[in-house]
Amino acid sequence: RERTFIMVKPDAVQRGLVGNIITRFEQKGFKLVALKMVQADEELLRQHYKDLVSKPFFPSLMSYMTSGPVVPMVWEGDGVVKAGRTILGATKPSESAPGTVRGDYAIDVGRNVCHGSDAVETAVREISLWFPEGVTKWDSHSESWIYE
Ligand code: GTP
Ligand code: MG
Repeated sequence: RERTFIMVKPDAVQRGLVGNIITRFEQKGFKLVALKMVQADEELLRQHYKDLVSKPFFPSLMSYMTSGPVVPMVWEGDGVVKAGRTILGATKPSESAPGTVRGDYAIDVGRNVCHGSDAVETAVREISLWFPEGVTKWDSHSESWIYE
């Protein structure tokens, strides 16, 4: 099945939102196949955000993302890339709907709590970047209660 890369950013770790974010994906029916806590270094983040290096906010993005540990994870399920973006809400919290993670817990785009892959190909790249060791294969007993 499809996979996406979701990351709890340093602000959300500090604010105790890790469990809340995980719960939303779990209760939807998606399957967690990788999770860890890491202090990301600039080299890793530079690769992760390679399309944003020329943006004026890139230096502040780097200091934000290295300000504390992050919780990268991989979720699996049909349509999970698009659904993940829906669960997280719009990038700018001023535009994200109530009921979404950013809509419920963020105000500033520079402290927007979480990351989610924007396309299936991006997810493949981000998963191999953050989890070079690979993900965990396991059978979920809920499978037949979630999919017809
Ligand atoms: P991600 O899921 O985090 O990748 O968000 P996105 O794909 O919706 O947005 P994008 O990849 O364009 O931007 C990545 C991250 O850069 C955002 O989540 C923000 O943390 C940060 N960012 C984007 N635009 C701005 C901005 O205008 N100002 C600041 N300070 N940060 C920004
Ligand atoms: Mg992005």
